[in-house]
Amino acid sequence: PLTAQVNGQDHLEVGGCDVTELVQQFGSPLYVVDEETLRTTCRQYRDAFKQYYPGESQVLYASKAWSCLAICAIAASEGLGIDVVSGGELYTALQARVSPDKLYFHGNNKSVAELEFAVESGCNIVVDNWLELQTLAGMPAKETPIRILLRLTPGIECHTHEYIRTGHLDSKFGFDPNQLDEVFTFVSQQPTLNCAGLHAHIGSQIFELQPHQDLAGVMVQWLTKAAGYGLSIQELNIGGGLGIRYTESDDPPSIDAWVKVISEAIAAACQAQNIALPKLLSEPGRSLVGPTCITAYTIGSQKTVPDIRTYVTVDGGMSDNPRPITYQSVYRAVVANKMSAAMSETVAIAGKHCESGDILIKEASLPQTEPGDTLVVMGTGAYNYSMASNYNRLPRPAAVLVRAGEANLILQRETYQDLIRQDRLPERLSGLTA
Ligand code: LLP
Repeated sequence: PLTAQVNGQDHLEVGGCDVTELVQQFGSPLYVVDEETLRTTCRQYRDAFKQYYPGESQVLYASKAWSCLAICAIAASEGLGIDVVSGGELYTALQARVSPDKLYFHGNNKSVAELEFAVESGCNIVVDNWLELQTLAGMPAKETPIRILLRLTPGIECHTHEYIRTGHLDSKFGFDPNQLDEVFTFVSQQPTLNCAGLHAHIGSQIFELQPHQDLAGVMVQWLTKAAGYGLSIQELNIGGGLGIRYTESDDPPSIDAWVKVISEAIAAACQAQNIALPKLLSEPGRSLVGPTCITAYTIGSQKTVPDIRTYVTVDGGMSDNPRPITYQSVYRAVVANKMSAAMSETVAIAGKHCESGDILIKEASLPQTEPGDTLVVMGTGAYNYSMASNYNRLPRPAAVLVRAGEANLILQRETYQDLIRQDRLPERLSGLTA
């Protein structure tokens, strides 16, 4: 899916830019986002819903995957709304000039300040629990009621890493479906709340279509039930979750297949229950940005433990990509300045952090490498920058947006000054270091 090719110098090119030259210009580690792929993917989602869903639809980009001004702005310019989960993500999307009516604010413990900020901004609020529902209901009435959606736990299991499953009953997210009566009754009595939709999300990096099809059926039942309480629910938001291909052995369904299954299941269930089609919302994160980005590193030291393993070390690691150490995620790598060299060895690609588990790829097939080579890890657009840290006080990397041979900085590399920007040295300590 990347607009990538190998140029005459045997170097990897993404979006018409030689990755090795990008590293010379912007330094490493460097996130490189392919704008064309990002835009194409946004359109694929949008067009697929237009094609398969007979009613209205709206795709929201789940910005937890990567929240920054440029990516929010691109998603919005392709007609997408944005899903945000914190005051910080909401602020970012608003600063990217995304229209508030296309913003959906999630989260299972929004603070009062966050809720006030959300109400003030005019965005949609996806209410997760009783405390939040009561807080919103208790706010002074505005000119127009606060537009909310209710997040419900669907009780659907799916096969993915336990940390990223959310649909099963024993989940911290959403109202327990056994409390639907109380929730619907309460909401129907609140003149200051406009309950416009229902939401559910079953998990992430999911390769099966069946759980999403089941979810569609469950949600339409909720819709019918809500009508019994006099609630006129116009929107169903089915969350995100479509998995992507990190390595050759991954075989996720296409965006088209995912959208088709969900659209048809919702439409069929509505027809069976004889109710009007709701507006169908979805919130892809990983599948929208994941494949659109690579991370370029510079190779440094190497260590061979005879008969066991060779470690090839790069100038980043778990601080710019915490997914391998957190979820045992597997990635694929290439050497950007030796694209057609024969593979010569299987090595471990290690990060530079003071932590043995800081291994980006346990087994990577690479050509002979040497210090200074550019190592590229593929598919790093989702949950990399957004989960990045300053562990060991590494500055966060820069990110560039590439398109037709042009590269624009979208995230500046942090400096050492940035690292101590929030540090304060109490007066009584300053003498100690003089
Ligand atoms: N909507 C809701 C309510 C969510 O909780 C999520 C992801 C999404 C949408 C987007 O799901 P996606 O399309 O990206 O699968 N840090 C983990 C992933 C956490 C996902 C959290 N929720 C990882 O790196 O794998």
